[in-house]
Amino acid sequence: MLFDLINKDIETLTCPALVVFSKAASQKDKSAKVTHTELGKKLANAIAEKTITGKALETVLYRELNYKNYRHVLVVGLGKDSEIDHESIRQSIAAAFEAVKGAGIKEAAIHFDGLTTNKKESSSFAKAVAEGLGLASYIFDELKSSAKKDAKAEDQLSFHVVTKNADKAFKAAFQEGVILGSCVNFSRRLGDLPGNLMTPAILADSAVEGAKGSGLKVTVWDKARIKKEKMGGLLGVSNGSDQEPRFIVMEYNGAAKTKKPVVFVGKGLTFDCGGISIKPSAGMEEMKYDMCGGANVIGTMLAIAKLKLKVNVVGLVASTENLIGPSATKPGDVHTARNGKTFEVNNTDAEGRLILADALSYATEQEPQVIVDAATLTGAMVVALGNTHTGYFTRNNALKGKVEKAAVASGEWVWNMPLTDFHVKDMKGVYADLSNMSSGKGAGSATAAAFLEQFVGEGIPWAHFDIAGTGWAVGNRLNYCPKKGASGVMIRTFVELAKQYV
Ligand code: BES
Ligand code: ZN
Ligand code: ZN
Repeated sequence: MLFDLINKDIETLTCPALVVFSKAASQKDKSAKVTHTELGKKLANAIAEKTITGKALETVLYRELNYKNYRHVLVVGLGKDSEIDHESIRQSIAAAFEAVKGAGIKEAAIHFDGLTTNKKESSSFAKAVAEGLGLASYIFDELKSSAKKDAKAEDQLSFHVVTKNADKAFKAAFQEGVILGSCVNFSRRLGDLPGNLMTPAILADSAVEGAKGSGLKVTVWDKARIKKEKMGGLLGVSNGSDQEPRFIVMEYNGAAKTKKPVVFVGKGLTFDCGGISIKPSAGMEEMKYDMCGGANVIGTMLAIAKLKLKVNVVGLVASTENLIGPSATKPGDVHTARNGKTFEVNNTDAEGRLILADALSYATEQEPQVIVDAATLTGAMVVALGNTHTGYFTRNNALKGKVEKAAVASGEWVWNMPLTDFHVKDMKGVYADLSNMSSGKGAGSATAAAFLEQFVGEGIPWAHFDIAGTGWAVGNRLNYCPKKGASGVMIRTFVELAKQYV
């Protein structure tokens, strides 16, 4: 899919299809309306008969309407005026994309000036439109023999976002949306690739490849280096697999060298069968997505570098498989993490916290302003919040405020979860400092967070995002996400968060 921004009067363009918008009736506006004035008049009967109601995500296609130099006209509902914001725009644009694609139309022009005439809103909406188009266009079909490998330009679907008012700020916002969409799609693809084609080594190579030309420095540690660096958690989990683990370090310097970095940490478990504490077969194939936290940290780093944010950022991804080979960690085994703390592995399926232990210890050594991690950490998070919200844990109120602000700005839903000393107590070991299993019942996501906290240096603001429920298969709720595939969740929020440390 191709899309661009055209700074022109839309009435002067020639294109197969025109996308215009409609708004629903509200207390202020007694009737629905089409925001393109001339087409509003032409379609007055359709509004009166309620074929066009302006309801959010409604799409009504008029084929061969032959309005000026457009053959077809698609009317896309925005909902009531009071309901329209950047997130609803993202979704309306995704609805428009699906309708145009579904109708087999190859090229369409979007009447942006029908979305808003408010200057302040227009930049935020320009970004949302670019994101909506980029995100909705993602498909993962490269493993199908029928996939068109070299689609010719004329076969490609293309969208033009047309406005009369594309000033510098508008163009920059649109470009930001393009970058975010493409970085999220980059991460989604890593998530969607199956375990045999997405090993720790391949994940690391993808980070190196993706970072080319972005100004990011990427360093990859192999198994020997991981051992030398005393990462006993990552090493212990990798023992059951033939595939070597990797520790990926991505560095971006957008500010003075003296400025402390923001550090993002991701769980890059490329396949989690549970290890000796093996998972049931049903649904196990979904555990290829257990590296989405890592993939999304990589996407975040790419986006921050491409946006040239004036901040220093480090991205760390601990990557391994969790399998069941002869050297696999056994229940009861004790390992030592990089910061010297020991832990008993009472359930080998609680492996994410073990590899993050080393990554968080290393993050602490970077003397960061803040540490933020993302992980598909616990099934309990899916039970608690389903696939609507990402649950996050932090004991730092200032950081909580920043997270909430970032999430509002990105349109992603987050929910603050409790983390207390009681949860920490539950993670005490019998034979070692810690156990990777809680001694108490319930609160499985909070006790996992409490385990992670033991590896974060005293006084460093830290937030942990458990994306187990939102990392993939959210398309039933968000139309710009794939139905079953990886979502790329939290990349946009993390970029917004990084902006607050500029
Ligand atoms: N990767 C899983 C968590 C997960 C489960 C993510 C389902 C998404 C969907 C993690 O490694 C795991 O298995 N955690 C265990 C921990 C338990 C043994 C304490 C869990 O949640 O069951
Ligand atoms: Zn597991
Ligand atoms: Zn896991």
